[in-house]
Amino acid sequence: MEQARAWIQSASTVVALTGAGISAESGIPTFRGAGGLWRSFRPEELATPEAFARDPKLVWEWYLWRRGLIARAEPNPGHYALARLEQRAPRFLLVTQNVDGLHERAGSRAVLKLHGDIWEVRCTGCGAEQRDERLSFDRMPPRCTCGGLLRPAVVWFGELLPARVWQEAERAVAEAELLLVVGTSALVYPAASLVPLAKRSGARVIEVNLEPTPYSEWLDCSLRGKAGELLPRLIS
Ligand code: OAD
Repeated sequence: MEQARAWIQSASTVVALTGAGISAESGIPTFRGAGGLWRSFRPEELATPEAFARDPKLVWEWYLWRRGLIARAEPNPGHYALARLEQRAPRFLLVTQNVDGLHERAGSRAVLKLHGDIWEVRCTGCGAEQRDERLSFDRMPPRCTCGGLLRPAVVWFGELLPARVWQEAERAVAEAELLLVVGTSALVYPAASLVPLAKRSGARVIEVNLEPTPYSEWLDCSLRGKAGELLPRLIS
């Protein structure tokens, strides 16, 4: 703990990579593990372009249910600790796989959202993207003014990450002196590949997770516990 604190304090270029685990203490279910979202829903039925083409109403019902959960949730001490770190570190970027927007609500500003944003929609017809915070729609599935179907502006299984977002993440991680990996199972690619990229590029890597991940053994430091408890102690 003390060594990790010192590394975080002294690093001039820090990247934090977060996953669903950081929002677990805010009451938002994770994807894998006990109580994970994918336990009760099959991802291939809900989070793929094929699923949306087959049944857009069902996919939207699931996303609106998630929007409702997120709207009622508040950022937790883990989110706030990372917002503080942004203020302190000379150079800082938060790369998140989460679509919930809780990092921004905690005050983080330099946020790169790898998997999109659940509060944005994209028209499958004209391609227009806009913010949309509705928790229900008069007509399901919702449509754009051009008549095209609206979809959540998130990355689904089988889809590529937006090229510019991914390039920016890779560049930041390759230049980082320290990567702080929080609450991700590190099983979903390409996001998970940022961890070995950091090591190859000479960064120190610290992990905070309730459970071990495929990378835990060869990281500089793997801390076992809740992000909402450990991060405030690491970043005071
Ligand atoms: P996962 O659900 O795969 O993993 C959550 C991780 O958080 C696990 O390793 C848990 O041990 C850990 N965890 C749970 N509670 C925690 C806590 N309080 N403090 C610290 N760690 C905790 O979530 P992700 O790795 O984010 O993608 O999943 C990656 C992607 O898979 C998601 O972005 C989503 C999903 O499919 C898309 O939707 C494209």
